[in-house]
Amino acid sequence: MPSLQQIRTALEGSGQAHVLRFWPELGSEQQEVFLRELAQLDLPRLEEHCRAAAQAAAAAQAACAPDRDLEPNLEPVPPESMGSVRRSDPDCLSGWEREGFLQISRSRVAVLLLAGGQGTRLGVSYPKGMFDVGLPSGKTLYQIQAERILKIQELAERRLGSKCTVPWYIMTSEFTLEPTKTFFQDNAHFGLQPSNILMFEQRMIPAVTFDGKVILEGKGKVAMAPDGNGGLYQALEDNGVLEDMERRGVEFVHVYCVDNILVVAKAHPAEPVGVVCRVGGVPQVVEYSEIRPETARLRGSDGELVYSAGNICNHFFTRSFLQDVVETFKDQLKPHVALKKVPFVDSCGNQVKPTEPNGIKMEKFVFDVFPFSRNFVVLEVQREDEFSPLKNADGAPADTPTTARNALLAQHCRWAAAAGAALLDEQGIGTPMPPSSSPENRPALKCEISPLVSYFGEGLELLKGKTIRTPFILDGAAAAELQA
Ligand code: UTP
Repeated sequence: MPSLQQIRTALEGSGQAHVLRFWPELGSEQQEVFLRELAQLDLPRLEEHCRAAAQAAAAAQAACAPDRDLEPNLEPVPPESMGSVRRSDPDCLSGWEREGFLQISRSRVAVLLLAGGQGTRLGVSYPKGMFDVGLPSGKTLYQIQAERILKIQELAERRLGSKCTVPWYIMTSEFTLEPTKTFFQDNAHFGLQPSNILMFEQRMIPAVTFDGKVILEGKGKVAMAPDGNGGLYQALEDNGVLEDMERRGVEFVHVYCVDNILVVAKAHPAEPVGVVCRVGGVPQVVEYSEIRPETARLRGSDGELVYSAGNICNHFFTRSFLQDVVETFKDQLKPHVALKKVPFVDSCGNQVKPTEPNGIKMEKFVFDVFPFSRNFVVLEVQREDEFSPLKNADGAPADTPTTARNALLAQHCRWAAAAGAALLDEQGIGTPMPPSSSPENRPALKCEISPLVSYFGEGLELLKGKTIRTPFILDGAAAAELQA
């Protein structure tokens, strides 16, 4: 570990001497902790990081308009590279499903959860995966995901007759690792084998002021932030994750966000999700703010949006592609700038909670590796079945615990109705099913189906002809009762 003097010299050399401003005021224990933290900073590259952050923030503030140079090179993903749950023929879809189950049954598929984010918009002090969106069962996002993994293993085993494992890799950060670990331990890993859950940590980088100074969050603490979900590729290398996958025979990796699933048609042209498209012939995700509104509104002869492929952060990679990224491409990923409110101590040592953005966080994005792919395809899925992200606290207009809960309950109501059940509301009155394209935030009947009973609506024959009063939770015990 470098000495205090070496760290001081490095900080002074990179214009960051203020970081040690309060050193003499710290107790010896605080000094020890702070020194250890400072030793972990990438000191040789600190100056470059701070300068690049300040420059990128200035450029972003000056040019918050669409990128006009981009547009002449922009084109949608060609039809031959685009599958669609809505439009592809049923034989083709069932072929994909068969292939998926075959690979899962051979233990060649892993899931990788991106769970290192701070969830600042949701505003809870614990990892988002531990959030309870208010389902009748009270299950958290982590529990729902764990149970889906258990179920998909069981379905693959039943279909193909071989015992299999879907390892679960969970990328965490300094903020989320310990609470996530403890939560899994306290909940007996939700029935999964602990040896098949692998948590690893992404790197943290300092938040910087608009004039390129590292922000002190406390007198002996630098304000650090995880390096974005695109920090995945560095973290895979740091933690030997790909080697672990290779040892287990994993060939395919389904990467997803703690708050939801695949690629959907955009709801409307201005929806703030990135668009999967091609730029100069290369696949890429372009942020909605980089496209002119006229371009976003373009419709083809079928009346559908030309740039309709909204990215919902659900990616399926081969392990060999991830290996290429780690070995060859990851250092080419350009960080994106996020302007955030970062609490800090002022020069007199007072704690300040800013009301306006005062700091720059640099984040890499997981999808920025698409241009390096040799074989890129997009799958469009049904929004109501696959996408309802949890981003904001209740009270916000979209993507809240209420919209997430209603989307899940509405899906389960559709499954129950399709299986032949009649659902009654809490007063015992039957209500017509909302059409499947209804908005997510319409209050749904409280019919919740445990992933341990059904993964995607299959296996619900036991509901046929039953009249069910909600709230109702179809778990293993309720299923046994219905069958008795
Ligand atoms: P978001 O960009 O929505 O960020 O992350 P967030 O941290 O959840 O929420 P805000 O922006 O602070 O409100 C999308 C996904 O990427 C993961 C998140 O955990 C989430 O699953 N992520 C984000 C990481 O794994 N690491 C990061 O550094 C950032």
